[in-house]
Amino acid sequence: MASLGTSSTLGVWAVVVSCLTLLITGATYRLYLGPLAKFPGPRLAALTSWYEFYYNYFERGRFTWKIKELHAHYGPIVRINPHELSIDDPDFLLDEVFAFKSKLDRYEGATKHFAMSDATVFTVSHDLHKLRRGPLASFFSRSMVSQSEDLIRNKVGKLCSRITGFQGTEQPIDLSLAFRCLTTDVVTQHVLSKSYGLLSTPDFSPAWFEAVRESGEFAVVGKHFPWLVPLMKDLPRWLIRRLNPKMVRYMAKSEAIQEQVAGLVDEESGTKKLQDGRETLLHHLYRSDLPPSEKTASRLSHEGIVVVGAGSETAGIAMSFSTFHLLDNPDKLSKLRNELVRALPDPEVIPEWKEVEKLPYLVGDSMSS
Ligand code: HEM
Repeated sequence: MASLGTSSTLGVWAVVVSCLTLLITGATYRLYLGPLAKFPGPRLAALTSWYEFYYNYFERGRFTWKIKELHAHYGPIVRINPHELSIDDPDFLLDEVFAFKSKLDRYEGATKHFAMSDATVFTVSHDLHKLRRGPLASFFSRSMVSQSEDLIRNKVGKLCSRITGFQGTEQPIDLSLAFRCLTTDVVTQHVLSKSYGLLSTPDFSPAWFEAVRESGEFAVVGKHFPWLVPLMKDLPRWLIRRLNPKMVRYMAKSEAIQEQVAGLVDEESGTKKLQDGRETLLHHLYRSDLPPSEKTASRLSHEGIVVVGAGSETAGIAMSFSTFHLLDNPDKLSKLRNELVRALPDPEVIPEWKEVEKLPYLVGDSMSS
């Protein structure tokens, strides 16, 4: 009995000593021996990714601002975690980093947040990214997007009539939500040929956008614990509803895109033309000359889900910020208004892009500012 007790105590000590050795070796490597050890930055950030996680998770996305502070303190190149540097010098990035090595792979640690590694934007290999980017770029070419101009103008008309509906009422309008409804309806119609129809919802669907935000905020958890997001996707719906009720709606929409792709890929004789003659992004990718390994249901659905996300929050928020700054700068607002009134005298008619793109102040022509 005594010798059994002694050997199990020895076993525990062996585990403790091994763990300590690993920790000390890892810390020494990160702080003094690794290739990033010579760069300035907080020692704690060099030692552990929990530093970044603290600001991003507990301070809800504040790491970007913390990095700005670190640059002010340490200079243009700062080590922000054990594996990454931040470079706050665009000229140096272009002239030295990218020029020195034109074929750069993406840093793998920055691709795991959403468990969508088959989407172009999360592709690690430079060459694979280039291959995937080709048909994506042609789908968003000027001529392809202009085929959707009528639908965009139709949605803008819908937004205008919703805004007019608030005139003369005591009710305030949440323009940030309204703009995001517009961009979501446009991108889903253009990319999936099936608009989510959020502009028609009386309250501009705040719950949907909360779910989108939640999924964005969850990305910081996904970066730190890359195994967690795939696990979440496999959890039963009732459990997710308990853990994070808002996520359920977002996940259901993502699954609807997956189903749409599955139907598309199952067709043996190519793809069906859509009734209105416009093809979706998914059809476009499926018909492209990408190799079959790039046309799997899983990959195409990653691409679809990411592009719907990429085209909705981003552009909607840009419109909200522009509106805020215009209202905050009456001189700029009146300059823009004068330009619009002169060029487009009938406010009832939604102009065509070919007229709008000629307006120098609106499109940011530097000579007119
Ligand atoms: C104000 C609006 C937008 C902003 C600020 C914005 C910003 C960005 C940024 C910074 C990236 C690069 C991400 C990275 O490499 O890590 C990106 C990539 C991308 N964006 Fe946007 N975006 C906007 C609108 C859109 C729209 C409307 C769409 C499509 C409907 C879109 C689709 C994409 C796609 C597909 C990529 C991936 C491209 C690639 O990896 O080669 N974006 N966007």
